[in-house]
Amino acid sequence: MEKKISPASSVSGAITLPGDKSISHRYAMIASIAEGPTRIRNYSTGADCHSTLGCMRALGIEIEGQGTDFIVHGKGLNGLRQPAADLDAGNSGSTIRMLSGILAAQPFRTRIFGDESLSRRPMQRIMTPLAQMGAQIHAHEGKFPPLEIEGGVLRPIRYDLPVPSAQVKTCVLFAGLFAEGETVVVEPIRSRDHTEIALREFGADLTVTRGEITLQGRPLLTGREVVVPSDISSAAFFIAAALLVPGSHLTIHGVGLNPTRSALLDFLVGMGAKIRIPQLESQSGELIGDIVVEYSELRGGTVSGAVTAALIDEIPVLAVLGAATRDGLTVRDAAELRIKETDRIRTIVENLRRLGVDAEEFPDGLTIPGRQKFRAAEFDSFGDHRIAMAFAVAALRADGESTIHGADAAAVSFPEFWDTLGGACFSLR
Ligand code: S3P
Repeated sequence: MEKKISPASSVSGAITLPGDKSISHRYAMIASIAEGPTRIRNYSTGADCHSTLGCMRALGIEIEGQGTDFIVHGKGLNGLRQPAADLDAGNSGSTIRMLSGILAAQPFRTRIFGDESLSRRPMQRIMTPLAQMGAQIHAHEGKFPPLEIEGGVLRPIRYDLPVPSAQVKTCVLFAGLFAEGETVVVEPIRSRDHTEIALREFGADLTVTRGEITLQGRPLLTGREVVVPSDISSAAFFIAAALLVPGSHLTIHGVGLNPTRSALLDFLVGMGAKIRIPQLESQSGELIGDIVVEYSELRGGTVSGAVTAALIDEIPVLAVLGAATRDGLTVRDAAELRIKETDRIRTIVENLRRLGVDAEEFPDGLTIPGRQKFRAAEFDSFGDHRIAMAFAVAALRADGESTIHGADAAAVSFPEFWDTLGGACFSLR
């Protein structure tokens, strides 16, 4: 599918976005192994989170509902059954990596596969700790999906994460739920902590001190009512759009503002962005609030170290914004970007060049000079949802109509993206 995008005269009004992808996956998985029903409201509409629902259903969990409101009939820690067919994780790294922690503890063998992009993404990062816990996992060429997981009784471990990854942390903690005793995960750099928050909400005994997460195995998890906040990583495209197009003034309602996810806002404010959060509330342990953003002239800056890890999913759209800042943007310590849905350093730089923007690529990042003009172009999503949406935002400031090829990729996290963008953008013509 192709989308034509005209330059915008402003990005304004008030919008509401779909539920957070990271939190939705976690609620669906934890609810399935909790006792009794969990009602999840504002569940992500993205294809990735529907891959998770499909896998949980195939594992014998009854899930009622449609749209964004589901009731998951959890069967407790011992309630999953062997699926009749291989599990399909689609494009979703979160589904395959996090669910593997649960599958490793089952008294049966499972095979889980994904699409072409997922089949190229590395799985050793979860295979190593799960093997230490006693699971047997076979992967294509020793590291790629499909995974064949021979589940069984697991032992608890203490695991020092070699890469800052919330998916790996979650995988180990999920496996630790099934092991007798204490599982400890040590994080070098703090990653998103939705799993820790959600596990506590459902009744697990979990403590966090100075980068060490300690979980007591075999807890009684109990079903409950939870509401998913709107996805800050989806909001990032609209925040960037409003910052990029002069005259914009946009309100985004009910966004998840967990401090391990909101580094983008702090970074943007540090560059001079006019962003306000009038009020914060807590919902199922997660912070939530409205974001009000106005067009701003940004200074530019450098993203590195722990900040890079904290806003890793937002780098595609931040790179677009960087080209319009006064001093430009440099991103370092972002080698992880090369193993996302695409090699995002490559796909960002390729599309920036089509936009007529200079950019230099490094093994672990890129640098983009500031004050650059945006030329109308033919962009390619390369099948990556965040690349499709980031360059749709770039097109709003171009000097004519642009085309996004492979625009359907956005549906992986945000099927409503194109309609929401259309509703918030006032055309120049
Ligand atoms: C996610 C963690 C991040 C992120 C991904 C979602 C999660 O991946 O890029 O989109 O929900 O835990 P890593 O854990 O590989 O850093």
